[in-house]
Amino acid sequence: MTTTRTSPTIQIEKNGGPDEMRLVDLPVGEPGAGQIRIRHHACGINFIDVYQRDGLYKLPLPLTLGMEGAGIVEAVGEGVTHLQAGDRAAYASNPPGSYSLARVMPAKNVVKLPEAISFETGAAMMLKGLTAQYLLKRTLPQGGLQAGDFVLFHAAAGGVGLIACQWAKALGYKLIGTAGSDEKCALARDNGAAHTINYRTEDFVARVKEITGGQGVKVVYDSIGKDTWEKSLDCLRPFGLMASYGNASGAVAPIALATLAAKGSIYVTRPTLFTHIATREATQQMADELFAVVESGKVRIHVEQRYPLAEAAQAHRDLEGRKTTGSGVLTP
Ligand SMILES: NC(=O)c1ccc[n+]([C@@H]2O[C@H](COP(=O)([O-])OP(=O)(O)OC[C@H]3O[C@@H](n4cnc5c(N)ncnc54)[C@H](OP(=O)(O)O)[C@@H]3O)[C@@H](O)[C@H]2O)c1
Repeated sequence: MTTTRTSPTIQIEKNGGPDEMRLVDLPVGEPGAGQIRIRHHACGINFIDVYQRDGLYKLPLPLTLGMEGAGIVEAVGEGVTHLQAGDRAAYASNPPGSYSLARVMPAKNVVKLPEAISFETGAAMMLKGLTAQYLLKRTLPQGGLQAGDFVLFHAAAGGVGLIACQWAKALGYKLIGTAGSDEKCALARDNGAAHTINYRTEDFVARVKEITGGQGVKVVYDSIGKDTWEKSLDCLRPFGLMASYGNASGAVAPIALATLAAKGSIYVTRPTLFTHIATREATQQMADELFAVVESGKVRIHVEQRYPLAEAAQAHRDLEGRKTTGSGVLTP
């Protein structure tokens, strides 16, 4: 078994643009109680990495980046019983640090990766796939969703988006996906979106009303934040649910509670994956479900961007520049 002593790792000393990201060599120690040491084969790229880099989400500095990865477990610390050295494994986990060849990290959110799923796919699907899962299966309007119900999903051609399009179709929901170009809209439709709207050229509220026969949707999954918040509320039917789960365009401004009454007694939630995977048992149960839907072929993970670890800054420029579709990975 390999013992990795030092690891090329992407780190920032201060918050800022992609140029703040530096490739440094950091020591990798032995795992303590409840920890493992993992050697990555691939690392997932997520929009949360941008928020942590630019300081929208404040974390102590210097900061290593990356919350998703897949590789081989090299060593396990005291008390870790669900993994052993030599296991193929994957994770979405705090604290950040997956933009690296190897790291020591908590074992809690690390699960064994099935043989049928490659490291690259594993690294591209854990954070995004578990998110699509908790949104579509646990972040639901009153009375839940039934087959045939409309849902509005923004950034439908992105990492979380392409998984959600396919999963929603498998669940029987009619997903209305928005995206920033006609090509991205076509990709979302190819992956199961029932309808798409190019929100750069079309009024998505008017189109949602048209598609739903004037009714609106039962739930909006909004990861765009500032730019879409207001209009997303107008897409909901009475008692609908606004699930605001990201800020790709900037944080949503504070809102007046009375707005929720005026829009039709609507509900608002601001969920994060990390509440859903707070325990090892919950992580394993959700991961098993994600692996099953991927192994069944109902959800295919699109790895559309690949970069060497040293080019992580370019990966961020592309992601923030809305140039990407599906998932992206870094190879250490
Ligand atoms: N709360 C949670 O638990 C959780 C977990 C995972 C992800 N998320 C959120 O889900 C979203 C998707 O994550 P992802 O990693 O899969 O990213 P992604 O969707 O692959 O990329 C973000 C997409 O947002 C769209 N976008 C719209 N306005 C934008 C702007 N001003 N700047 C940049 N992008 C903009 C772009 O698509 P178009 O060009 O098609 O508009 C872009 O491709 C992110 O907001 C992320 O923070 C939240």
